Formats: sequence, structure tokens, C-alpha cells
Amino acid sequence: MTNLSFITIEEHLIAQQQENPVLTTDLVYILNDLNLAAKVIRNEVIRFGLTEQQGRAGQENASGEDVQKLDVFANDAVKNILRKHGRFAVMGSEEEEDVVACDENNGEYVVLFDPLDGSSNIEVNVSVGTIFSIYKVANPGQKGSLEDCLQPGSKQIASGYVIYGSSVMMVYTAGNGVYGFTYDPSLGDFFLSHDRMTFPDKTKCYSINECNWTRMDQGLRDYIDWIREQPGVTARYVGSLVADFHRNLLRGGIYVYPATTNCPNGKLRLLYEANPLAFIAEQAGGSASNGDMRIMDIKPTELHEKCALYIGNKNLVRKAEELKQPLPGLVHL
Ligand code: AHG
Ligand code: MN
Ligand code: MN
Repeated sequence: MTNLSFITIEEHLIAQQQENPVLTTDLVYILNDLNLAAKVIRNEVIRFGLTEQQGRAGQENASGEDVQKLDVFANDAVKNILRKHGRFAVMGSEEEEDVVACDENNGEYVVLFDPLDGSSNIEVNVSVGTIFSIYKVANPGQKGSLEDCLQPGSKQIASGYVIYGSSVMMVYTAGNGVYGFTYDPSLGDFFLSHDRMTFPDKTKCYSINECNWTRMDQGLRDYIDWIREQPGVTARYVGSLVADFHRNLLRGGIYVYPATTNCPNGKLRLLYEANPLAFIAEQAGGSASNGDMRIMDIKPTELHEKCALYIGNKNLVRKAEELKQPLPGLVHL
């Protein structure tokens, strides 16, 4: 049946302002700008085979990964659209070496983002995404700085993601529940389709790159053995965090990217990937851990810091924490 709510993100945010004081005018501007960036990126993603954005950009990012032309496009889209209203103080991106301060003013907000998540999947038509995280500045009235970006995830004011999949959705939280909006291409806008999203209380999917089997700790191998035996469970992993997380949020399950012997700090980025999805997960009744502690309690020390990530239904994350062991050959401090 057609969803006839016709509530756009803008209308939803304005209505939410009545009950959620964190939704200031500036924050609403920023979330609307991110929504516009999602439309611009979507236009390139869906025409990928026909555009000039194919292939590698010929550079590596701060994490040493090959940058794709579409990574650059998506990064510029988010950056330029946020600059349009200049309501932020500073931003940080997976695709920017350093923080980018706002020239025009000393706004109150920090915006951190992964402009294109899962970019290795673009050429094979698998879902990709955009992830964002918003904080208040640590030092109001001053020019935005690195220090503003290095706050623990528990200080997030809002976070969310866009999934460019068989349909396109934007999902956000501002600390008052999780809301999902689906893009209607004929109308050119996102409409509320998933009100107050929560993890269903079932173990449907586990999402782990099992190719890392020989590089992971014995506890995670034991966990995989355990979860395979749970009734109704299946393995699902596409290699786009946004897509794997989104599926598990709708179906119930856990996503794990562990520390491995070749990536002892994990692969995913704390600021652009783990924290924003951790905020969504907690708001949806789930949890997120690095195996030892809550993701959102980690105090970042570097802009492009990495972490292990266990995220999904609370009981599944807790069980993985219980079984986790130190990596072989590494001293557990
Ligand atoms: P990005 O494209 O932003 O660099 O992120 C890729 C990440 C994440 O989306 C995904 O879950 C993970 O890398 C997949 O890694 P493996 O290929 O090692 O499984
Ligand atoms: Mn990513
Ligand atoms: Mn990315």
C-alpha cells in the first residue's frame, strides 16, 4: 500500500522542535542541508555507469585507502552544501586530511561525516551510503578546531545515515527516537516511512567478514559458532556498513568488524562510522561496543581514529563482549 504520510524531513523536524529542544534552527538547517546533499549524491549513484565519476581518483585518504572519484564527488557535495548556510563551526570528513573550519562565522555545530560508505561496492551496484554525526562545539564563540571534533560519541546531538539502495532512505536521530524517510523519485523528496524505528527482538542476521577468521580472536570464532546455532539465524554481509547495519536494524541482528591481527585497532572509523551508528543503535534499543566498552564512551585522540565495532541487538552485543578474547600475539593491556 502507498504510504500517504507525505511528511517531509523538513516538516518532521519543525514538528519535532516542539518536543525536542536540541532541534535549534541552526541544527534544522544542517539536517536539511544533509538531506539536500543526499539527493545530489543519489543522482550520481543511480547514474553511475553513465557519469564521469567512475574509477579511482588517483589518491589515498588519511586511512591509506584508494579514493574513488565518487568519494570526492560526495565529499564536495556535503561540504559545499553545508557551506551554503554556514551554520556549522567545523567539519571533519573521512576524505579530508584535516578539519575544515567555517570561514564565515563561529557557528555552534560540528559535523563529521563519511561521504560515501562502501565505495568499493559502487561499481557492482551494491548499496552504498552516507553517514553523519553532529555535536555542539566544545569552545563556543571560537573558531572551530580539531578539539571540537574529538568529543566522545555520548556528546552527539544528532546522527544519521543515507542508504542508496533499491530505494533510498535517510534515517536520523536527534536523541528522541529514530526516524526513517524514503525518497520518492517522482516527487523529488523524502517522506516519513519508518516512524520510531527499533531493533526487532530477534536474532535474524549476523554480519561478519569471515574471511578474517584466521586473523580474529578465538572469542569471536566461538561467538560465530554460537550464533550459527541460534534458531532462524542467517549470515548476511555485503561490505557496506550502512547496508549491513540498516538490514540488521530492520530485521534484528549484529554487525561485527573486529580488531584483527593485521588491523589491531579495527578498520572502521570511530568518528565517521562507529559513533553515528552507535547513537542510532542505542536510540533504537540496541547497543554498540568495541568489545570492551561502549563505543560512545571512547574519548577520541585522533581525527581518523579506528575502532573495533560490535553493533546491533543488545543481547547479541553483550554475548560477543562476554566471549571476546585478546588477539593472538598481542599483549592485552
Ligand atoms: P568506506 O567505503 O567508507 O571506506 O567504508 C568501507 C567499510 C565499511 O563500509 C564496510 O563494512 C567495511 O569497510 C568492509 O570491509 P571488508 O571489505 O574488509 O569486509
Ligand atoms: Mn565507510
Ligand atoms: Mn567512505
